[in-house]
Amino acid sequence: MKILLLGKGGQVGWELQRSLAVAGEVVALDFDDGADFTQPDALLARVRDIAPQVIVNAAAHTAVDKAESEPELARQINAKTPALLAIEARRLGALLVHYSTDYVFDGSGSHARDEEAAIAPLSVYGATKAEGEDAIRASGCQHLILRTSWVYAARGGNFAKTMLRLAQERDQLKVIADQIGAPTGAELLADLTVPMLRATRVNPALVGTYHAVAGGATSWHDYARFVIEFARARGVAIRVAPEQILAIPTSDYPTPARRPLNSRLATDKLQQRFGLHLPPWQQGVERMLNEIL
Ligand SMILES: NC(=O)c1ccc[n+]([C@@H]2O[C@H](COP(=O)([O-])OP(=O)(O)OC[C@H]3O[C@@H](n4cnc5c(N)ncnc54)[C@H](OP(=O)(O)O)[C@@H]3O)[C@@H](O)[C@H]2O)c1
Repeated sequence: MKILLLGKGGQVGWELQRSLAVAGEVVALDFDDGADFTQPDALLARVRDIAPQVIVNAAAHTAVDKAESEPELARQINAKTPALLAIEARRLGALLVHYSTDYVFDGSGSHARDEEAAIAPLSVYGATKAEGEDAIRASGCQHLILRTSWVYAARGGNFAKTMLRLAQERDQLKVIADQIGAPTGAELLADLTVPMLRATRVNPALVGTYHAVAGGATSWHDYARFVIEFARARGVAIRVAPEQILAIPTSDYPTPARRPLNSRLATDKLQQRFGLHLPPWQQGVERMLNEIL
């Protein structure tokens, strides 16, 4: 099986380079290899040349605040080019695996949304990701759309690393406590992708949209406390006292893009249809902390 991986250098793309290796022959591309999503003609020519059986798209415009001031660029990368990719996948008879986000929802309420819940994005990023999803579903190509949330990886910057740095420098931290979601490892997503794409190749009835997040849910504030106390217990020179990690509402931390407060996603569909288990979010975060500390 020939697999084309796009966005190989991102958090998820990097982990997919590892996990996909056992599933088939992987051609992994990035901007620099002629797979620039702002140049769709060249990208599609490349896809046709490679003629993969599976296309895994991990490329995206993920700078949520920046997207507010460059909506056309975000739309090109998150919606227009994925739409063309889906048409090409259909022409090739290839399975397209694509990642999307909890930001397609407005985050009202406190329930876990399933895949049928109404989409109502609050931001340019969310709206462009929603448009990309819709275009893929409408294209008629075989697809898996995995909606995930709060992605982190040991490689590169992430929320946990920022909190650890600040906790060593400052006497007090203020962290948002009213956004709830599930920190999800790029590793976990990459690992899930392999059995999902294999099963879907065998049984095309499995195509569709799935929520793919780690188990449980937390706030950014509790996530920060978890990370900092883990590091403190490991002997890291943490300066901030536990009671000085303060909980603040989103309204105290204004950003250009609005973010959903309730990012809980129900994952029963994925777990039942594919027979996969989604471990609690703490498991992956502890593993990442063990790697970086
Ligand atoms: N990160 C999250 O918290 C999160 C949450 C929910 C869903 N998701 C979704 O999960 C997927 C993977 O996200 P991630 O966290 O791995 O994101 P990421 O680390 O930002 O990776 C995105 C990749 O896309 C590349 N890219 C950007 N513009 C491009 C262009 N014009 N042409 C080709 N490639 C381009 C980036 O390259 P550069 O690094 O060189 O710019 C990067 O390699 C995305 O679909 C994202 O929407 C992410």
